[in-house]
Amino acid sequence: MDRYAHIIGWGMAAPSQVLTNEDLSRRVDTSDEWIISRTGIRERRIAAEDETTASLAVEAALSALDPTPLNPHDLDLIIVATSSPEHIFPATACIVQDRIGAVKAGAFDLSAACTGFIYALNLAAQAIRTGSIDNALVIGSETLSRFVNWEDRSTSILFGDGAGAFVLQGSDEPGGIYSCIMRSDGSGEALLTLPAGGSKLPASPLTVEKNLHTIRMNGREVFRFATRVMASSTREAAEKAGWEMTQVDLVIPHQANLRIIEAAARNLRMPMDRFVVNLDRYGNTSTASIPIAVCEALEQGRIQDGSRLVFVGFGAGLTWGALALEWVEPRVRIPPLRRRQRALLRFLASVRSFLRRIIRRIEGLIWGTSAQGKRRD
Ligand code: ACO
Repeated sequence: MDRYAHIIGWGMAAPSQVLTNEDLSRRVDTSDEWIISRTGIRERRIAAEDETTASLAVEAALSALDPTPLNPHDLDLIIVATSSPEHIFPATACIVQDRIGAVKAGAFDLSAACTGFIYALNLAAQAIRTGSIDNALVIGSETLSRFVNWEDRSTSILFGDGAGAFVLQGSDEPGGIYSCIMRSDGSGEALLTLPAGGSKLPASPLTVEKNLHTIRMNGREVFRFATRVMASSTREAAEKAGWEMTQVDLVIPHQANLRIIEAAARNLRMPMDRFVVNLDRYGNTSTASIPIAVCEALEQGRIQDGSRLVFVGFGAGLTWGALALEWVEPRVRIPPLRRRQRALLRFLASVRSFLRRIIRRIEGLIWGTSAQGKRRD
């Protein structure tokens, strides 16, 4: 029997702090009019000091799990797609795993810049479709504001912070994720990069002095590349799913620049009302942009049972990709009483994490001392 991967839960998190174009024009030589006409962005959300990529991911994940019949311990896999991970290691996904109490889940981060969410969704769906796992949590989470050079007017206007998450589950019912294409071209590595902080250029006084820990971008080249691949990959993913473009109800593109989305619509000969656009309020939230756009489209009733959707994205790498899916309304929603149970589970997850840290310390004292003792002998 064929097995399908369905999205049964979705959630998002957006920091409450808003940075408008007017605010930016007080920091760098730009204007509201320039930013809107060149990008379509009006404002973006910026993480507060106590908000991080992991904390936003946890918030989105819990809200995605909330209406599903699953508890965190039912999850088999957590993937966090991110361009602004909490650390180089451990993976942000492991921090999420601990905070939500997903005690049976494998967890890893996926780095494919803004295309990361599409890659992650595809990998989780494939694992479900092969029967290897049943339930997965896929998150796109970013605090790119921490890597922006606030004196660079060509990049500081673009990016925002936020997170979006989907819960995926295997089922015999046709629908869900049908096809995906994943592409890359590393010859464009220099077009969009965060030069230092990795193994090639570890942090040093010089890298800090030269501001190499912030985003560098050749905007014109990235723009040209994006307009080239958005339409072709949308078409390819739809074809692979066996659909004509006329059968696609809604395209949910990566929210980088309104002009890029309009160019894709023109190339696909599709009207703009079949594209979801919310970049005016969030800017480019990288891996979080597609799931946030899906959450809002669902809230607005633009996605219904049976809707045929294509997600399409591009980003640093260069990477790009598109994914076709048929939306199937989740058949099971949980009663409010179980939500209270969830709050208890959340509390227990934090107690469990605390106890594990204490136990590890005690074990370290006991075994560490005796091991040293042996060496001394
Ligand atoms: N305000 C005013 N003027 C500006 C600003 C600004 N914020 N930024 C640049 N300019 C100036 C430039 O200095 C230039 O002036 P010059 O002609 O005197 O040299 C002029 O405006 C035109 O600059 P361009 O770079 O050609 O402007 P363009 O129309 O290409 O818009 C932009 C720039 C918005 C960055 C555009 O190229 C773009 O959106 N590119 C794609 C970027 C993108 O999507 N990146 C994310 C990828 S996803 C990921 O992986 C994270």
